[in-house]
Amino acid sequence: MTTATQSIEVRRLSPALGAEIIGVDLREPLSGEVFEQILHAWHENLVVLLRNQDLSEDQQWEFGRRFGPLAGGHIPELEGSREGIAYVSNVRKDGKLIGILPDGEMQFHSDQCYRELPSQGSMLHAITIPSAGGDTLFANCYSAYDTLPRDVKQRLVGLRARQVYDYNLNPTQRGTREIAADVPTWVHPVVRIHPATGRKALYVSRLMTSRIEGLAEHESDQLLNLLFDHVEQAQFIYSHAWQKGDVLMWDNRCALHARTNFDPAETRLMRRITLMGEPVVAG
Ligand SMILES: [Fe+2]
Repeated sequence: MTTATQSIEVRRLSPALGAEIIGVDLREPLSGEVFEQILHAWHENLVVLLRNQDLSEDQQWEFGRRFGPLAGGHIPELEGSREGIAYVSNVRKDGKLIGILPDGEMQFHSDQCYRELPSQGSMLHAITIPSAGGDTLFANCYSAYDTLPRDVKQRLVGLRARQVYDYNLNPTQRGTREIAADVPTWVHPVVRIHPATGRKALYVSRLMTSRIEGLAEHESDQLLNLLFDHVEQAQFIYSHAWQKGDVLMWDNRCALHARTNFDPAETRLMRRITLMGEPVVAG
C-alpha cells in the first residue's frame, strides 16, 4: 500500500510492520506538518525507515529529540558528544571497543525493559555495514497479542514479569537463576497498552524476560517459552537488511528486535539514539 501525502510518501516495508518514508532529507529543517506525518507513520507501522541519509551527530540528535527527551546509556565512555547518542560498533581503537553491543547475534528484546521507565523508541543510523549479516529483525507485538488463543489471553490478565539485563537468566538460556546485585531489573506487565495508539501489545522477550511473578518456575518457563515462540513467528516479523545511510527508528513499546550474526572481521558501525522512558501501563 502506498499513501501519497502533500510532501512525503509512506510505503509499507512488509505485511508484518514497517514503513519507508520517502521524500525527506533530514539535513534540512523539518516542518511541524511533515514531522507529524512521520510520527503518525511511526505509530501506525512500529518502524520507520528513511534511506540515503548522511547525518552528523548534531543532525541526528535534532531529528531524534523531536520525538521526545533522549535517554543516556550506562556506559558513559561509549557515548557520543551529546546526551542520548551512542555508537553500536565492533570497531576497536588501540584494542578498545568504541561502541556498545559489538559482535554477534542478539535474541529478541525491547530496549531498557529492565528499567522502571523503559525507552519509548530507539533509532539507528547506518554508517558502516558488513557485506553480509548483521540484519535487524522486528516483531509486531500487537499482532502477537491479538492472535493469541483466547484462553492464553485470559491467563495473561494481571500477570507481571521480571525483566533483567542479564542474558543468562531467561528460560531459554537458563544459565543462572540468581540476579547479581548490580544487574538492572524491573517487573512489568506481560501485556501493556501503548499510550499513543491505545492498543494492547505483548511485552515479554526471549533475551530479557526471566520469570512471571507468582507462578512456579516450570509454569512460568512454559508460558514464557510459548509466548516467545508465538511472537517470533515469521508472519509477525520484518527483517531489515541495512544499507549505508539508513535511519531507522523502532517503537520499543510494541515491537521487539533481534540481530543476526555477522563476520566479526568486518566493520559494523551504527549511531544510536535512545528515547527517554515512560511508565508502562498494564493491558
Ligand atoms: Fe536493542
